[in-house]
Amino acid sequence: MIAHRIVSTVPFSGQKPGTSGLRKKVTVFQQPHYLENFIQAIFDSLEDSARQTLVVGGDGRFFNRPAVQVILKMAAANGFERCLVGQGGILSTPAASCVIRKYHAFGGLVLSASHNPGGPQEDFGIKYNIGNGGPAPEKVTDAIYTRTGVIDSYRILAAPDVDIDSLGQRILGDMTVEVIDSVRDYVTLMQNLFDFNRIRDFFRSGFRMRFDAMHAVTGPYARAILEEMLGAPVGTVMNAIPLEDFGGHHPDPNLVHACDLVQTLHGPDAPDFGAASDGDGDRNMILGRMSFVTPSDSLAVIAANAHLIPGYAEGLAGVARSMPTSSAVDRVALKKGIRVHETPTGWKFFGNLLDSGAVTLCGEESFGTGSNHVREKDGVWAVLMWLNILAVRRKSVAEILRIHWRGYGRNYYSRHDYEGIDSAAADAMMTHLRATVPGLADRRLGSFTVACGDDFCYTDPVDGSVSSRQGVRVLFTDGSRIVFRLSGTGTEGATLRVYVEKYEPDHTRHDQNTQETLAELVQLANTLAEIRERTGRTQPSVVT
Ligand code: G1P
Ligand code: ZN
Repeated sequence: MIAHRIVSTVPFSGQKPGTSGLRKKVTVFQQPHYLENFIQAIFDSLEDSARQTLVVGGDGRFFNRPAVQVILKMAAANGFERCLVGQGGILSTPAASCVIRKYHAFGGLVLSASHNPGGPQEDFGIKYNIGNGGPAPEKVTDAIYTRTGVIDSYRILAAPDVDIDSLGQRILGDMTVEVIDSVRDYVTLMQNLFDFNRIRDFFRSGFRMRFDAMHAVTGPYARAILEEMLGAPVGTVMNAIPLEDFGGHHPDPNLVHACDLVQTLHGPDAPDFGAASDGDGDRNMILGRMSFVTPSDSLAVIAANAHLIPGYAEGLAGVARSMPTSSAVDRVALKKGIRVHETPTGWKFFGNLLDSGAVTLCGEESFGTGSNHVREKDGVWAVLMWLNILAVRRKSVAEILRIHWRGYGRNYYSRHDYEGIDSAAADAMMTHLRATVPGLADRRLGSFTVACGDDFCYTDPVDGSVSSRQGVRVLFTDGSRIVFRLSGTGTEGATLRVYVEKYEPDHTRHDQNTQETLAELVQLANTLAEIRERTGRTQPSVVT
């Protein structure tokens, strides 16, 4: 029998959940009724969810397990017919997307704070994904947020905890809980896309790689695929055991936080290939021996070589990149005669393009790459893309990059972040840029000539929705660019992101130092935005 416990909720003091859902400190989620309030607000905002299937899983960070129990009991009390739960409460973000799609679920709850640290004093998060497997669009997240402000009770089944560690079905009230293998469906999807035999032969021939799972969710996925199925030696996957606190590190695959991997690839016995993924498995970093592939270049190389991979042998319908991502992929699209869509920052903008079949591949400069196989960016998928390309071409990562640049030219690219600056100063700076940048057209600035300047505005070609003020751009006649935008994910003050790109067609100049090559544009960016005067900062806090 179902007992609906009606409890008064604490007022929801959370800030508006962003596209990546609600992210807060664990201690905030642990407040009485806080988690329940948010979950009930989600359930209340869904239309026709009765008798439907819900997918539940997370990246295994601290609070993942108790949160799964609450969600299951609430789903049962809210009329869901079936819940598919990853074993132990584990599903990577791309695996959750895969499972939602495969079993035609109504939606899913993904528990993660992505690349942010985990642990009792660290971060937790909840995101709702819709039936296409992708992040809920703004109208859904807005409805959830509105609901959190007025909700005064929630429905939860009074029942003991469900066993989520052994596979199989159990009954919870009127609902079936099905504990599924966390990796199996995802692995099957990867098998359908990639040439596993060829990659297996490649490993057998002595090719060596290191995958850094950063003690986060991709450990079990990478071990199953790389070590068990593709025959890579045990130990290929490092930091493979998921830990609730990620071993105390930031599970963020970049040159700073994955420094052990970077050192390994620069060491005396360096393997041929290196890769890492983040807390919930959607980001990726690609390294070669002594080389780093920028995410923008990675997207371009993947697009140029996708036809070598079984799942993409028929070619690409089109590609999409977020506006600040370098235009390296545009040059590939031009050569292939396919369209490139330039979208605002954030994976949700790719959803309609993927659903409508307009694009096959998409990516962002922030270590996100993916395709139409799911509706999230996918770290392990990106690694398999590279592995399959390397297995076919039998060249080093550095050689593949060099050959790519020779054919398409090189887009030198860097992002400079100014974190924790004063919000009012940041807003005033953007206002100043919006007012001045359009007037720069045809002006000569140092050795560059401005073609035009604007504030990026996107009209979704599928539903016609308009997203304005997505970043101020200065476009130069030689294909170089400076882009300014404020981060939408920061927690303290404002973060200014300055994206700088210089196109170099001359292949004799492809071995230059990136920051030196971009120095004049960086200087120009500082002058145009008056960064020092307005923020007091003379240096960015992070350079990627
Ligand atoms: C950042 C990245 C963006 C990514 C988002 C969520 O957003 O720049 O590409 O989609 O995180 O992972 P931002 O802080 O720049 O708004
Ligand atoms: Zn992530």
